[in-house]
Amino acid sequence: MTRLRSVVRGCGSYLPRTTVTNDDLAARVDTSDDWIVQRTGIRQRHIAQPDETTSVLGIKAARAALEDAGIDAASIDLVICATSTPDHTFPSTATQIQAGLGIQTGAAFDLQAVCAGFVYAVATADKFLATGAATRALVVGAETFSRLLDWEDRTTCVLFGDGAGALVLEAQAGEGLASDRGVLTSQLRSDGRHREKLYVDGGPGSTGTTGKLRMVGKEVFRFAVGSVTDVVTQAFEATGTTADDLDWFVPHQANRRIIEASADKLGIAREKVVLTVDRHGNTSAASIPLALDAACRDGRIKRGDLVMIEAIGGGFTWGSALIRW
Ligand code: UT7
Repeated sequence: MTRLRSVVRGCGSYLPRTTVTNDDLAARVDTSDDWIVQRTGIRQRHIAQPDETTSVLGIKAARAALEDAGIDAASIDLVICATSTPDHTFPSTATQIQAGLGIQTGAAFDLQAVCAGFVYAVATADKFLATGAATRALVVGAETFSRLLDWEDRTTCVLFGDGAGALVLEAQAGEGLASDRGVLTSQLRSDGRHREKLYVDGGPGSTGTTGKLRMVGKEVFRFAVGSVTDVVTQAFEATGTTADDLDWFVPHQANRRIIEASADKLGIAREKVVLTVDRHGNTSAASIPLALDAACRDGRIKRGDLVMIEAIGGGFTWGSALIRW
């Protein structure tokens, strides 16, 4: 049966110029390159300068995605920005990106699901495109998590970085089969009982301050592998596909150990796993589009490939999406 699919037309990303190594951090807090590499796989992260706000990063990533798609920004009628680090409490970063690109029509809004934000944003854009409510969507994941960090807390400040990535999705007719190009399924979950395991201790409605990121890392770790493997399995079931059909597994880049344990549990071969956590650290909602763009740029992800994205973040929120590129 013919149906509208959300097909990837272009991909782009942007990283701040400044990189910070593990040794740089070891000069500030009681940590070491060895500890960080062994426990997380992270070797460096990019950190935004004061003039590089989330919208600045997002606009650059969006421009790269539009250029890759070869389409004019004016034809975009939906902008969704997944972020937990907006430039301002309001207006949304998405409207700032919209204005920065000169887009004057359609809708723009932010989506906040922390590290799962990009998966949530792809799923949301897909619902708009699949119902005909929009025709071309710009889906951005952009973060400046460095501004939420307590730089005295070694248990969190070594983990995160800044950056942005974007996809251009376009509504195109498909057959309703797993062989169609586009978003084949998305699976979103949340469970607010876990909200105090990963949170920011401030906000406009409580302290009136931005607050700092707090995390019970071990608890998040424990929950992560089981939850993401569940939603990936459900995506396979929903589409009649298996781990063997997959060309690329592009997980949220929080911790190499979580990624490899998830891939092993799902029976996904290690060579199909796209890893950028070593170079980018955890960039929250930006990590998946940054990894997608890295794998597109180096020629790994090609048109027709089957790509699984998945993430878990504060809330907890988690989800997966299966995309035929
Ligand atoms: O993106 C959202 C999702 N977030 C995540 O997925 C993060 C999930 N959690 C993790 O990735 C891991 O739990 C961490 C990387 C955060 C921590 O790894 P861990 O293996 O769970 O270590 P731990 O918290 O059990 O800490 C082990 C030891 C502790 O010392 P003691 O109590 O054994 O003496 C910590 O105090 O390591 C110590 N430690 C550090 N040592 C050096 C904690 N942070 C550091 C550090 N450098 N930066």
